[in-house]
Amino acid sequence: MSLYSQALAEFRALFAQAQTLDTDYPNAMSLATADSQGRPSVRIVLLKELDDRGFVFYTNQRSAKGDDLRANAQAELMFYWEKLKRQVRIHGVIESVSDAEADEYWMTRPLESRIGGWASQQSQVLDKREELDDSYKTIESQYPDGNIPRPPHWSGYRVLPDYFEFWEERPFRLHHRQCYEQKEGVWTAFLLNP
Ligand SMILES: Cc1cc2nc3c(=O)[nH]c(=O)nc-3n(C[C@H](O)[C@H](O)[C@H](O)COP(=O)(O)O)c2cc1C
Repeated sequence: MSLYSQALAEFRALFAQAQTLDTDYPNAMSLATADSQGRPSVRIVLLKELDDRGFVFYTNQRSAKGDDLRANAQAELMFYWEKLKRQVRIHGVIESVSDAEADEYWMTRPLESRIGGWASQQSQVLDKREELDDSYKTIESQYPDGNIPRPPHWSGYRVLPDYFEFWEERPFRLHHRQCYEQKEGVWTAFLLNP
């Protein structure tokens, strides 16, 4: 098994464990991005798909994170499952998912979320709450049959990993940090001091 496959398998095993926890969002991950000046931003998004290529989340690509990712197509993801005493960090370059993939996921979203996907100008200033409510109602009335297409700016990004760090809490802060890193196409595995 390649080191990359090993890292993915390690993540999948941990994620399966996380999904048995009594928590609403075991798939919540912090997404760190940076703009062209290097100014960092972090926020939570949900992992919606994981395959051998990488980690997918969906968003409004005209959002602040979308601007960052256009300027600087790399990101770090971070999962923390307190009950498991585990943290995972994943760094990688970003690519947009295909339109077909985004369409397929869009159709699984509840009707209200699809309306919201059109109604919200994510990350733009909202003068007052009523504007959003009005916008929601307008979109709702435009699609009485509920057959709402995906907005072209609403899509997914896939993080193609080049670095994994599996952190595990150990006694006396002598934690365990197992890393996998890809440089110039070659994966290596190593430990880091806690
Ligand atoms: C539990 C949780 C899950 C979230 N999932 C998503 C998500 O999958 N996609 C998304 O665009 N925003 C999600 N958000 C909202 C983001 O954290 C953020 O507020 C929004 O994407 C705007 O970020 P930006 O202005 O940095 O682009 C989630 C927030 C929380 C707390």
